[in-house]
Amino acid sequence: MEMEMRIGFGTFRLRSHADAVRTVCAAIRTGYRLIDTAQVYQNEEAVGDAVQQAGVPRSSLFITTKVSPKVMTSQNAVYLSVLESLKKLKTDYIDLVLIHWPGTSKRDIKIPNTDNRLAAWHALEQLKQEGKVREIGVSNFTPAHLKEILQEGSVTPFLNQLEIHPLCIPWETMRFCTENGIRLQAYSSLGEGELVKTPENGGDARLGKVLDDIAERYSCSRAQLLLRWALQHNISLIPKSSSEVRMKENLDLGYFTIGNDDMEILDNLTETGGFAQKKYCWDPSTSDDDDDFMVEDDEEFDFEYEDEDNEEPDVDLENKYYSAKGLKEDTPLDAIKEFEALIAAEEEKGDWGFKANKQICKIAFKLGRYDLVLKQYPVLLAYIKSAVSRNYSEKSINNILDFMSTATDMKFLEEFYSLTLDCLNENKNDRLWVKTNLKLAKLWLDRKEFARLGKILRELRASCQTDEGEDDQKKGTLLLEIYALEIQMHTETKNNKKLKALYQQCLSVKSAIPHPRIMGNILCRTSNIRQTLTWLILGVIRECGGKMHMSESEWEMAQTDFFEAFKNYDEAGSPQRIACLKYLVLANMLMESQINPFDSQETKPYKNDADIVAMTNLVNAYQRKDIFEFEKILRDNRRTIMDDTFIRTYINGVLKNIRTQVLIKLIKPYTRIEIPFISKQLNVPAQDVEDLLVGLILDCKISGQIDQVNSRLELFSKSVDSELYASLDKWSKNVDSLYKTAATKIM
Ligand SMILES: NC(=O)c1ccc[n+]([C@@H]2O[C@H](COP(=O)([O-])OP(=O)(O)OC[C@H]3O[C@@H](n4cnc5c(N)ncnc54)[C@H](OP(=O)(O)O)[C@@H]3O)[C@@H](O)[C@H]2O)c1
Repeated sequence: MEMEMRIGFGTFRLRSHADAVRTVCAAIRTGYRLIDTAQVYQNEEAVGDAVQQAGVPRSSLFITTKVSPKVMTSQNAVYLSVLESLKKLKTDYIDLVLIHWPGTSKRDIKIPNTDNRLAAWHALEQLKQEGKVREIGVSNFTPAHLKEILQEGSVTPFLNQLEIHPLCIPWETMRFCTENGIRLQAYSSLGEGELVKTPENGGDARLGKVLDDIAERYSCSRAQLLLRWALQHNISLIPKSSSEVRMKENLDLGYFTIGNDDMEILDNLTETGGFAQKKYCWDPSTSDDDDDFMVEDDEEFDFEYEDEDNEEPDVDLENKYYSAKGLKEDTPLDAIKEFEALIAAEEEKGDWGFKANKQICKIAFKLGRYDLVLKQYPVLLAYIKSAVSRNYSEKSINNILDFMSTATDMKFLEEFYSLTLDCLNENKNDRLWVKTNLKLAKLWLDRKEFARLGKILRELRASCQTDEGEDDQKKGTLLLEIYALEIQMHTETKNNKKLKALYQQCLSVKSAIPHPRIMGNILCRTSNIRQTLTWLILGVIRECGGKMHMSESEWEMAQTDFFEAFKNYDEAGSPQRIACLKYLVLANMLMESQINPFDSQETKPYKNDADIVAMTNLVNAYQRKDIFEFEKILRDNRRTIMDDTFIRTYINGVLKNIRTQVLIKLIKPYTRIEIPFISKQLNVPAQDVEDLLVGLILDCKISGQIDQVNSRLELFSKSVDSELYASLDKWSKNVDSLYKTAATKIM
């Protein structure tokens, strides 16, 4: 990287548009040429405006942005999000796009995220190939994450952006990057400003002294020392400052070199210097990293709220809030106490109390203290009446609903939703009312409480009707969401009549709403979240359609629906895609298709997925008519295949199917064949062979009879006469049944 690109300018927390444009323009004026933004900072538009206003040719600037963990749901979602970024940045190309974070927001942390990371990486590779992006890289990736990319990707990451400063030196990751030709870039080099604070402003006095003593030797500031230290480790920088004086100071690092002894002291502050390791941003190596991101996401990127607030900030409460927040990770119970003290100190209900209440609820939830959540939540809800703006409270409650809905304790969820609905009855908010009821409906569905589910669905549906009592097609996505729940209810209760009617209704609403891909490409106003939701709902509807067709033995139609369901779930990044892929394979076998379901472009990448391999092997065995292998696979893979009740219901049919096919092939050359011999060949008891043969004779699939005395099958030779007699026999049976039907009608 060129020297002038080694010190870039960070833009995190530049919230208001005007402020961000002004600050980035100032940075460019000061001499910065690398600007670091991200989709989650919500200031790409401002960076784009600043770049246009700054009067510096685009070609001499280097713009980095990062893909939000919220869009890491599929290759397509990531791809479209970068097209959005291009538009916001008002540029034809982006110099560098990073995957911001190895996790996907709000994904169950128990589910490995490798598939989403690789999908995101492939999207970036595609963008690079198309010239829309010049370089692609990652951020917060550990060696394990990087190995996946190096193994599966075709491009080596340009750089890995990490939190690096003397209290946080990820040596192992740094070594791995260097060995693999991946550049390093540091963020939070100043510990988000904490490392340069004086003791009067809450800085660590002991650490300050050590740093200032070294800085004095080079006549530089503490900030310059920290930045120069990173440069000497061959790490590029992106410090952020809103002051032009400090911007200049942070750029001015070329006039001194830190000596080896001092470098060693700085390298070993946490090893031998007696200082604790500290991360000021987030920690990607802990298991609940995505969860942390959610908290950060909620707390740090709440721009609308910040902008609405024109009052003088309450510094005392603000300090209390941040000091309590600092305790959250290590001593969560102490953090709760501090937040409670903040609430008690508040003279009048306001923003900081609201935030503190939110924090208590989330900490208590993470600790599994649902009792505490239920005690605190009504206090939080009391704020939404007047203490905080409607917009902010809606956003926050929305967020909390998503956060809590990951609980597995259904009793807790029931109480939590009911508290929310009580509050919403008092403070009318239709959107939140609908959202809460949808979540409650999902809960009743999971608990198979269909009477309660039916009641809510009726209420929800009534809220989506026009004055004439018809479904309001303008509420397309919401209607689909309600239908999807209703369809699942009818599938569970096996109410095929209602299921059929509703399925048709769904397909007509589906055609009334824009296709999610069109939403993303053409309208571009629709948020990624809504797009994902629509994919998900379409997935549910098509899955249920597939199940409905299966129950009617319409294998081909079922296969089509499962394929559509799989594609929709895949777009939404839902793990249900795997289940649907298995159903697709099942329908494929049942329709006796000779086409391998993994031949299609969409399904091919899943062929080697651990969960799918068993199913793929099953298809292969089925297509080879290798009955022993088929049964062995079923025995060895009970969990992946037979634990799914839906698959289990049908697999017997598949087994019968394959046995039948093998049986027909086996008996073809014979005119007489012993049943025990067939039983041995098929690995099936003689009685079952006999049942199979009877079925085949009755279905006219073979022509013969069973000699039960000698336990033998005798096959008739297919003469013209026998075919003629068979046809006559069939015809006379049909006439007979027609006669009987007519007779009962006349009587
Ligand atoms: N990839 C990721 O996950 C990730 C995470 C976090 C950040 N980042 C990127 O990295 C950039 C930098 O990180 P950061 O903003 O988190 O923290 P940072 O750069 O370490 O510190 C910024 C803070 O330090 C203060 N500051 C800056 N220069 C100073 C100086 N010379 N003397 C005293 N104080 C000074 C700033 O205050 P003033 O504004 O008042 O000067 C600001 O409060 C971000 O803006 C963002 O672009 C990336």
